[in-house]
Amino acid sequence: MTLEAIRYRSGSLQILNQLLLPHETVFDEIRSVRDGYEAIKSMKVRGAPAIAIVGCLSLAVELRGGAGADDLVSFIRESLCHLTSARPTAVNMGRAARELMEFTENESMEKNTEQLRDSVIGWIEEMLERDVNDNKKIGNYGAQHILSGVPRDSVTILTHCNTGSLATAGYGTALGVVRSLHTLGRLKRLYCTETRPYNQGARLTAYEAVAEGFPATLITDSMAALAMREKGITAVVVGADRVVANGDTANKVGTYQLAIAAKHHGVPFYVAAPSTSCDLSLESGRDIVIEERPAVELTSINGVPVAAPGIDVWNPAFDVTPHQLITGGIITELGVFLPSELQAALTGRLTAL
Ligand code: MRU
Repeated sequence: MTLEAIRYRSGSLQILNQLLLPHETVFDEIRSVRDGYEAIKSMKVRGAPAIAIVGCLSLAVELRGGAGADDLVSFIRESLCHLTSARPTAVNMGRAARELMEFTENESMEKNTEQLRDSVIGWIEEMLERDVNDNKKIGNYGAQHILSGVPRDSVTILTHCNTGSLATAGYGTALGVVRSLHTLGRLKRLYCTETRPYNQGARLTAYEAVAEGFPATLITDSMAALAMREKGITAVVVGADRVVANGDTANKVGTYQLAIAAKHHGVPFYVAAPSTSCDLSLESGRDIVIEERPAVELTSINGVPVAAPGIDVWNPAFDVTPHQLITGGIITELGVFLPSELQAALTGRLTAL
């Protein structure tokens, strides 16, 4: 069974409201770019690939309804600009916006408004299938790479945040690697961190693991180093919101400390991400803009206050793992690369940002 977070058919988009998981399964209707922006900003939908896909599909829905009749190209440009501003760290929405705008401008030279509308919607609809196909390749490359280090054994993987069907169009990235290992019968156990402050691990990855039947154990973020020492972790595999030219990787806050602990324990540390999460225009992780989220996400859980009133709060949503700590490699749909190999491997394959 594979969970479905995005339901789309021409002119209609529904997203699984991830704020209500794991207790309630409610699909929210997305009728416009404004709804898409709100769903991304409030984290009803989250995860770098899913943000881009839902953002673009919200535009497709509005276009199918006839929006932008006066000046279609300007409408598309303004909508994409608005959607890109919802969450700054993940590069996928910005990349999709850049590519779609380039496509729109080229097509507009030879098509009338209605033909252009259809081609833009067609381009957006292809994103769903492309993402699932890329994720399956990531899953297979990652599983083979990890298993090549342990030819006969089953493996124990530690992951962080949520990178599964709920964060993508389907299959998942880091969790896609876990899925492939499970399908091969080689997954001994998955350890997933709770992922404070927003608990994507406890609420979403644990939910996916139970639904998919992965042997899985939930730990708090503060137990990760101990798990590496005591639980025979074969590899740490995480996702990415932005991988830059030297391999430095922004991902959910807490990833950096996992990479340090993995290095100390000699556990290979992998980043699994589609090439659409890579940004060769930035040289190092110091250039990545890190989103800061509202204090209330840290001071309360599900609306219940858990912190002393009046305390100051710092709530960066992501951190940057330096490339030196990504010892296993960066798993993409094009293969597994060391951080030092990434730029050469992707040059010419990615549109400039
Ligand atoms: O704040 P979120 O939940 O959008 O953060 C998600 C992550 O950091 C994921 O690990 C990353 O986007 C990869 S999702 C395939």
